[in-house]
Amino acid sequence: MCGIVGIIGHEDAAPLIVEALKRLEYRGYDSAGVATLHDGQIDRRRAPGKLRNLSAVLAREPLPGIIGIGHTRWATHGAATENNAHPHASDRVAVVHNGIIENFRELREELTAKGHVFLTETDTEVTVHLVTDNLRAGMDPVAAAQAAVKRFEGAFALVIMFRGDEDLLIGARRGSPLAVGHGDGEMYFGSDAFALAPFTNRVTYLEEGDLAVLRRSGATIYDSADRIVTRPVAITQAGAALVDKGNHRHFMAKEIYEQPEVLGHTLVAYVNAVNESIALPGPAIDWKSVSRLTMVACGTSSIATNIAQYWFEQLARLPSGTDIASEFRYRDAVLTKGGLSLFVSQSGETADTLAALKHARAEGQIIASVVNVAESSMARESDAVFPTHAGPEIGVASTKAFTCQLGVLASLAIAAGRDRGALSREAEARLTRRLLEVPRLIGEALKQEAVIAAIAQEIAKARDVLFMGRGLAYPVAMEGALKLKEISYIHAEGYAAGELKHGPIALIDENVPVVVIAPHDALFEKTVSNMQEVMARGGKVVLISDRKGHELAGDKVWMRIEVPQCDPVFAPLVCAVPVQLLAYYTALAKGTDVDQPRNLAKSVTVE
Ligand code: AGP
Repeated sequence: MCGIVGIIGHEDAAPLIVEALKRLEYRGYDSAGVATLHDGQIDRRRAPGKLRNLSAVLAREPLPGIIGIGHTRWATHGAATENNAHPHASDRVAVVHNGIIENFRELREELTAKGHVFLTETDTEVTVHLVTDNLRAGMDPVAAAQAAVKRFEGAFALVIMFRGDEDLLIGARRGSPLAVGHGDGEMYFGSDAFALAPFTNRVTYLEEGDLAVLRRSGATIYDSADRIVTRPVAITQAGAALVDKGNHRHFMAKEIYEQPEVLGHTLVAYVNAVNESIALPGPAIDWKSVSRLTMVACGTSSIATNIAQYWFEQLARLPSGTDIASEFRYRDAVLTKGGLSLFVSQSGETADTLAALKHARAEGQIIASVVNVAESSMARESDAVFPTHAGPEIGVASTKAFTCQLGVLASLAIAAGRDRGALSREAEARLTRRLLEVPRLIGEALKQEAVIAAIAQEIAKARDVLFMGRGLAYPVAMEGALKLKEISYIHAEGYAAGELKHGPIALIDENVPVVVIAPHDALFEKTVSNMQEVMARGGKVVLISDRKGHELAGDKVWMRIEVPQCDPVFAPLVCAVPVQLLAYYTALAKGTDVDQPRNLAKSVTVE
């Protein structure tokens, strides 16, 4: 996801913009740039790669100017080159953009025919030439921007700077987040409150279709019908969260180790530990009247919903289904009246999930969301919001957000079971008690770090790795495969253990390690049988189980990772830790960029 910053300030803007862009690095990017106005002219510095490359360019060629815009680009159209890096500019305007202008080809042809010369392969460049064309037609900057935005199709957040006016920035959003920061005689744009934290904690989140005109004196905001509207100024906590690696080498390691603490913080908001009951925050959901639960998400968040589906059906007897968002909105799903659609997202900005939410809303569903960013677009578009309290998750590979999502989803399933009469008071108390033990058990699981680091040295040699599990361990196998793929670039797949013999077992030989997640539960023996089918064909098994499971699994297992014994219902939260650490240490062994893996973004705000 690209990052956007704009400043109308009183001192040179370029260094401040670069510092703010650093707080957006977690979103993933592959080039960066800054533009300012000085001596009445637009001037730019841009560089491919990481922000340190842009800083080196600025050190060689400083960029004066007290008004500026900056951008970290995650390439969609056009390679990650200096020429394609934002800001893009004409002689009249400079623009930074996050999203995709889907009708850019049509606009490019129209503007080329009018004599505009395009210099890049990007969709963004059409915004520059369309606004410039409107200015040349005699429109003032606000009208020129409003008219241009109306021509765009697709998702965007963009900020425009105008030659000759050091007291004007215009920003617009549709489908991608954009926030306004209120300073003292200064004004700012940022992709989120996090980027604005060095300047202010007074933030206005633009709504869909809004266009904001910033001058030092303040912001004027227009809605999609060009009416002046008032949007609330929130005092955000974004700046309070310390964002550094602590004594860890990577944000991902820090965030794996934060899990006992942040899961504990999250559970406190959902559990009454005194009477061992679930107390959900926010507007009550009448679970008895919910006919069916549809869950929708992407990536790791989608895997969290796979686990939750077992919980909602086993604990609450609530018919439940889960879809990946990019499929959900196009498969014409049958959504029953009175149904509840639940959207799970760390960022709350994932375009596929947000679009699916809007589709479900249009189909008359009750909309709830589980998000880690309370001020996110998904939160604002939901009837009920169930926040995780994982704190900012910087590593692209989601870890603490995942286990916090599971903590929230487990709480929701227990509350639904209680309210629907599927769980007795005693059952609620027992499950709540066991859930409250999980942060400590995750702490126990983390003690296997050295064992896992050694195993990772062997996994790092593999070209393909399979993960398998049964029941609640099956989605954990999928998560282990996703983690390994996305940060070590080793091909991995997660399978239902019972499915291996229906095809994937053909892949097994001594070069394909198989990671088996099998806590000692009711399905353990069946999983051990599948494991023996693998070993009988020369497959090498890494077994993740508790002490009892390891005792019963026999001595042919290649390598072992022990997790603490826990209630089988909550085993996914505990077993997530070894698969996270295994991926982390394998990536270290491979020398890949753990926090910002190639090609990936922390939040994908394009479809
Ligand atoms: C997970 O490690 C990945 N970074 C990715 O699959 C992520 O979970 C997915 O893009 C969804 O993001 P969200 O939770 O912010 O919606």
